Parts: sequence; C-alpha cells; structure tokens
Amino acid sequence: MNHDGIHMKFPHDFLFGAASASYQVEGAANKDGKGPTNWDVFSKIPGKTFEGTNGDIAVDHYHRYKEDIRLMAEMGLESYRFSVSWARILPDGDGEVNEKGLAFYNSLIDECLKYGIVPFVTLYHWDLPLALEEDGGWTNKRTAEAFVKYSEICFRSFGDRVKHWITFNETVMFCGLGYLKGAHPPGIQNDEKKYFQATHYVFYAHAKAIEIYKGLKQYGEIGITHVFLPAYSVNDREENLRAAQHANEFETFWYYDPILKGEYPRYVLDVLEEKGWTPEWTEEELDTLRRNAGLNDFIGLNYYQPIRVEKNHETAAVIEHSRETSTLAPGSPSFDGYYRTVKMADKTYTKWGWEISPEGFLDGLHMLKARYGDVKMYVTENGLGDEDPIIDGEIVDVPRIKYIEEHLKVIKKAIHQGINLKGYYAWSAIDLLSWLNGYKKQYGFIYVDHKDGLNRKKKLSFHWYKHVIETRGEEL
Ligand code: BG6
Repeated sequence: MNHDGIHMKFPHDFLFGAASASYQVEGAANKDGKGPTNWDVFSKIPGKTFEGTNGDIAVDHYHRYKEDIRLMAEMGLESYRFSVSWARILPDGDGEVNEKGLAFYNSLIDECLKYGIVPFVTLYHWDLPLALEEDGGWTNKRTAEAFVKYSEICFRSFGDRVKHWITFNETVMFCGLGYLKGAHPPGIQNDEKKYFQATHYVFYAHAKAIEIYKGLKQYGEIGITHVFLPAYSVNDREENLRAAQHANEFETFWYYDPILKGEYPRYVLDVLEEKGWTPEWTEEELDTLRRNAGLNDFIGLNYYQPIRVEKNHETAAVIEHSRETSTLAPGSPSFDGYYRTVKMADKTYTKWGWEISPEGFLDGLHMLKARYGDVKMYVTENGLGDEDPIIDGEIVDVPRIKYIEEHLKVIKKAIHQGINLKGYYAWSAIDLLSWLNGYKKQYGFIYVDHKDGLNRKKKLSFHWYKHVIETRGEEL
C-alpha cells in the first residue's frame, strides 16, 4: 500500500452512496393523503425562491421512484440516503397515521432492497407539517414531542428493513435560515432567542428518539447529520485565530457536543448567558441529553466548504444589513457580529461562490477526532452545484467528476490516517430542486430534463461513479 493511501481500495464495509430529500425530489405535494408542510406554503410567497420554484412536482420521484432506483442500481450504488416526509405519515404532525404514506415508503424501501441497495433514512430534512409550524414550529416543545412520536412510527413500520437512521439534517441550516436570516420557513429574522431555543428542542427530540430506537432492539444504527463548516483563520493574527475558534464553537461544537458529550459547550453557554439568548430548558431535558449521548452511533457530515474567517470590525448597521442579504457564499459578518467570512484571492470557488477545498475537509476531520475521539462518521452529503454543460446531447459534467474525485481522495487519505469514516453519499443521486436556487443548480449523477417531460438521462459522472464503485476507489 502506498503510504498516502493512493493505491488503497476503500474498506469492504465502506458504503458508496448518494442522497436526496423528500421535498426536493418527490413532488405529489397533495397526493394520497399527504398533509401540507411549511415549505408548501413558504415557497409560494413571492420572492422567496428562485423564479418561484416549489416542490409541488419537483422531479416526480413519488411516481418514478422505480425508474430512479433502477438507474441507481445500474450505477452500482450501494446505498441510497433519502428522507421521509413527516406530513405523508402524520398529515397534521401528531394526529392520525396516513396508511398510504407508510405504503409509499414501504415500496421505496423494498425497491432499494430488491437491488441490494442499503436504505439510509433521514427522518427530518426540513419539511415540517404545517400544523406544527403554525403552532410555533421548533420553538414549541410540542414539535419535539411530535417528532418523537413520528420517529417511533417510522422505526416500527420500516425498522425491520431499515438499519441506518438519521434523525435530523443540518439543524444549523433550518434553524439559522428560519430564525436569523428569514430565508427558510418560518421566515423570521434576527431572533437569536428563538434560534437557540429551536436548536435545543431539536437536540432534545434527537435524544428522545434514539432512546426509543434503542429500546426497540432493532439492532441498527442511528445518528444525526449536520453541515460541517470547519472554520479557519485567514492568517495567524491572534484576533483572527480567536475568531476562527469562536466560529467553530458556534457552528460545529454547539451542534455535535450535545449529541456526543450530552452537554453544551461552555464557551457558547457563557456568551448566551451574557446576551440573554439562553434557551428555556428544564432539568429533565438536559438530563435526557446527558443520559442518551452514549447511545448515538455515528455523526453525519454534510461537507461542501470550509469558512475562512477574520475578526469583524463592522458597525452594527452593516451587520444588520448583511444578515438580510447574505447567502452561504463568504463575505459577510456572523449573526453575532463577532467574525466575518472572507473570500480569498488564492482559493477556488464554485459558480455559486462556495469554496472548493478538499484539504479543508481533511483538516476538519482531524479537528473532530481531536474533540470527539473515534466516533463513527459518514459523509452524508458532498457534491458540486453547477449548471452542467450539454454537448451533442450528452451531459458532460466534468467539473463534478473532478470535485468528487478530489474529495474521495482526501477521504481515502483520512481513513488511512485513522479517521473512522464508513461511507460517502454524494449530493445528489439525481438532479433535484434546490431550496432557494430552483432547478438551475444541478447536483445529480442523473439528469432530469425539465423541457422534456422530466425524462431521466445518465450524465458522464454516472459512468464515472459506477467505475469508482466497481473498483472500490483503487484508482483514485
Ligand atoms: C444541504 C442540504 O445543505 O445542501 C440539501 O442538506 C441542499 O438539502 C444542499 O440541497 C445544497 O444546497 P443548495 O442550496 O446548493 O441547493
């Protein structure tokens, strides 16, 4: 074996997969008893999404899942990560069960298993039953309790065949965009108190759900996925190094500490106390976090880019303004004004301004190992959002191949260096609806032709990934 792992095959138990999320692929928004969700309503508010796109039809995976899974099987996919739409199972969040919703996911799971594709199921990928959103969403404990009920229904209905569960996808995104930036539902801006309260109820719901899961003795694994945004200082000035540490505390440790250590990071708690942003919590909730931290089997990392930060010296007015206009691309102050993200001249960026940095991932993995030890990890999302070139009718998504190749190489290196990584899920299996960027920003191995009846077509990356899987990455 070459010392940097270049000629190594990925271990036999490493899963090569790809991912999607219910709202972004399914469509069938009102079909077979599904209840309305926060996104069904939010996406219809003028100006909220790119060209007013919404998930009413999306890429119609609800009706075409058999064709889609067949294509995934042809690609050699070992595992498919998808999410369950809560409102298909419990149309009003915590009331009656909709049998047709259960039937759909039973068929989807069976279809995966027919081809030996391991279903990796996310319970919450942002589409919340509207009744719960209208009752305060994640700032109301009712939503957390409803989630626990919903997750138990899923475990009992699908757990004989699903052995890999993710409770939540990217808490920082749906809470941050929902309560600080107002870019996702419920569209609230600058409410730090609500933001931290919502994150707390998510962690509490996660802890209760894993306790129930383990009690059912289904012998699968369960964890949580966050977007992983490791922060690096733009230089070695003391104030910027401190700013990077501050960013890691708020963007990463706040999200993984309560899951893996069962407690919140002291540094953040002190800041919240000082600012008056501490969530309302009970001893019982805090104890639930402590008690169940040891039951969590893995963490999922959605890695797209690191953040480069420096101490912020802008005035409050500038911070306020940029909160309203900023996207995930660098160049704006953090929500608390402590640091700002910076676009750097010597780095490479995607068309949507996200930095491309496989090395940033490798360093970040070591940071996680230093803090959390040998916790099992999956890359639950990674990929390139691009407008794919079409030449003579072929989708030649070479930049995507390059992007994934570079990331798989560092993942191989990381495994070689002792990082406990067990799988890679490209985002995404198939072109899908980007929450705010419509269909223009493509991620899939499978192309969807919106001008031709949503027909599916294999991209160049489809054939490339198939070869990677067949050779277990040995040539990377
Ligand atoms: C992740 C989400 O944050 O990023 C996905 O889990 C999302 O649902 C992906 O689609 C890419 O984001 P975007 O904004 O490029 O569509």
